[in-house]
Amino acid sequence: MLIGPFTQILPMTGMPLKGALQDEQLPVIHNGGVVAEDGKILAVGDYKALQQAYPDQELQFIDQPMVLLPGFIDCHTHICFDGNRSRDYAMRIAGKSYLEIARAGGGIWDSVTKTRVADTVTLAENTVARANRHLMEGVTTIEVKSGYGLDFDSELKMLRAIQQASLHTPATLIPTCLAAHMKPKDYAGTETEYLDWVLSELLPVLKAQSLTNRVDIFIEETAFSPAAATSYLRAAAAKGFAATVHADQFTAGGSEVAVATGALSADHLEASTDKEIQLLAQSNTVAVVLPGASLGLGMPYAPARKLLNEGACLAIASDWNPGSAPMGDLLLQAAVMSAAEKLSAAEVFAALTFRAAPALLLTDRGRLEAGLLADMQAYPTNDYRDILYFQGKLKPCSIWKNGETVTA
Ligand code: NIG
Ligand code: FE
Repeated sequence: MLIGPFTQILPMTGMPLKGALQDEQLPVIHNGGVVAEDGKILAVGDYKALQQAYPDQELQFIDQPMVLLPGFIDCHTHICFDGNRSRDYAMRIAGKSYLEIARAGGGIWDSVTKTRVADTVTLAENTVARANRHLMEGVTTIEVKSGYGLDFDSELKMLRAIQQASLHTPATLIPTCLAAHMKPKDYAGTETEYLDWVLSELLPVLKAQSLTNRVDIFIEETAFSPAAATSYLRAAAAKGFAATVHADQFTAGGSEVAVATGALSADHLEASTDKEIQLLAQSNTVAVVLPGASLGLGMPYAPARKLLNEGACLAIASDWNPGSAPMGDLLLQAAVMSAAEKLSAAEVFAALTFRAAPALLLTDRGRLEAGLLADMQAYPTNDYRDILYFQGKLKPCSIWKNGETVTA
């Protein structure tokens, strides 16, 4: 299939994985096309040249101005949950503190309570609905965490629901076990005892049932300590689990653990200081910033500009969850953050595509290049700069997953 012509194609190729990017470094193919076969890209380039080189390809003719990009990769979400937390949000915007909200029955534990009583089918349906909404907004790969179960049956139920959901959405879902979201209120032992229980009882079953090979842990004064997290991540790695960390959200410390244990990514980073920024920049750990959580909590953004200037690999993810980031609009969040943090379009699109891929250990997507998946999205405009200019209101009009057109 030859798809095109597109007014502009941003293939996101040939750019470094780490550090600052100028828009001058962003390759743009004018009047371009893509040849896709068996879900993969066969060629990207000048439309007329492709027509000559591939005369037998079926044509998917684009008859309006469009800008083509790789599908976005959202490497951090919690879209498997039941219920919502609008009561928390109302209290927060009225000025109530985290502790006051928790005392009134809000916070992560409220979502745990609601998710524990939901059945697998309901959780899978909720996940599919959110994944499909994301997909129609150009997000073709979505990481999804457990972490609202926090006991054996409920964590297993969440990860089974994510697995079922992945069979009912064209989007790729990448599951992660976040049993280390917080020590459950109904667990009598210490944090170390709880993490040891996750390691010895839960992770082997998740592995045996192929439900996930990734773990996440929330390192924070209200969740798990750096010391306990370090032992947990080392032990999980020994069992074959790749890791990501909720790090430096309110207090710094988590990203140091992420780097020391070789985690794929350190996510949040709102409270990262120059020390953590340096550590991340000098490591292979992807620095994932979550503007949706800053917007939802009314807090400062993570230091994305500084991270890039120091040389980090910066990804932007939605953190879509019922508590701190209920909006779930990745493009809007990235666009709004870019104005505050002074990120170039090249840096933003990189953070949503090929720089997010290594956080999920994916090498088959994130750029438009021969051999990679034909995961693509097109915006109804003739200038890529319009996409961030409209701050998330300009949505893609065509989306392809594995070369197939996705329809609502
Ligand atoms: O990434 N920081 C911890 N966990 C989530 C919030 C989850 C919740 O409030 O339900 C986050 O922001
Ligand atoms: Fe999160």
